[in-house]
Amino acid sequence: MHADRIFTNARLATMGPCTGSIDIVNNGMVATKAGRIIYAGPARVMTADEITDCGGRLVTPGLIDCHTHLAYAGHRAAEFEARLNGATYEEISRAGGGIAATVSATRAASPTALLVASKQRLQALINEGVTTVEIKSGYGLDEANEIKLLNVIRQLGAISKVDIAPTFLGAHSLPPEFKHDRQAFIHLLTETLIPKIASLKLADAVDGFCEAIAFTPDEIAEVFIAARAHGLLVKLHADQLSNLHGAALAARFNALSADHLEYTDTNGVAAMAHSGTVAVLLPGAFYTLRETQLPPIAALRAHGVRMAVATDLNPGTSPLTSLLMAMNMAATQFRLTVDECLLGVTRHAAAALGRQDVGVLAPGHKCHLAIWNVETPAELVYQIGFSPLHKRIWSAA
Ligand code: NIG
Ligand code: FE
Repeated sequence: MHADRIFTNARLATMGPCTGSIDIVNNGMVATKAGRIIYAGPARVMTADEITDCGGRLVTPGLIDCHTHLAYAGHRAAEFEARLNGATYEEISRAGGGIAATVSATRAASPTALLVASKQRLQALINEGVTTVEIKSGYGLDEANEIKLLNVIRQLGAISKVDIAPTFLGAHSLPPEFKHDRQAFIHLLTETLIPKIASLKLADAVDGFCEAIAFTPDEIAEVFIAARAHGLLVKLHADQLSNLHGAALAARFNALSADHLEYTDTNGVAAMAHSGTVAVLLPGAFYTLRETQLPPIAALRAHGVRMAVATDLNPGTSPLTSLLMAMNMAATQFRLTVDECLLGVTRHAAAALGRQDVGVLAPGHKCHLAIWNVETPAELVYQIGFSPLHKRIWSAA
């Protein structure tokens, strides 16, 4: 077998094939052809056009941040200060701040300004070995501004090498102009925006925020029915601040993922296990809101629900531009193991996006690699505020 390129002398964390294991191969090798992996495993004799010696470094798949809201304008530092003075996220939201404040700033911003601001945040993730990023809309909340945001998200993919998974988050917050007519806004989402966004292929999936300060389970169900009818995948911000049985709702629609889950009960976990819905844990939001209710990690483990870890990068509840830090927080706050953290930003994050060709070092997968200046996987999780990335390799496929 002749390869375009081989990476030798690597300590591989392949993230497969065994479920639940990161599968370390000492003295491993990765071979690629046309940007795809053709071999990953113990060193073997092979010819190649180009040989890269990894110097014994740890090599993982490029990392995947499967939940971000990184396309927005402005910031909410004043709300952060208000919370330091005792205000809660819900109080700020009900007083017209919160998501609504970022919606005003984002509506007022030009596509170029949005692109420039978002690109900086994306670059921070890339600097830490991230090669696939999910980005949600949801700060436009009308036709022109949601499409403006989704086009900016598409452009971010065109100007960087990152694989972008775009998500339409129309059901994020009720915009002020619909304050007195919730049903009209749901109608706008289901009859106009979802069909249009599906036909323009501006999003892979539809997300919603199921919460007392956002949308009811019945409203989310209407949105999901429309999404599915137009061939879009679904996922949900579920049970973050209270238990509205969002995880079970997401599972009922075979959602790719249910995210946050602090207040999810055992029935919700069992439903997710049944549907294969991935649990996306967002320790940055837990930390920022000083939440004390932990997601049901033991039940997720017991039911075999795959857990992913993401930044939730957004201006309100998680102004966190570091997936390595999210892993550290998941370990320290949620007691995830090192292997769970690493699977959470690779193999399980890929599953949360419905992507079958990233997140694992195996034949057929894109050759997105992160080569780290560390010897053991634990070093990636334990360091705080330091990126030991040596090099990233982008697949040409
Ligand atoms: O994931 N929960 C809803 N959406 C975001 C918060 C967005 C914001 O506050 O701007 C989240 O926490
Ligand atoms: Fe979020």
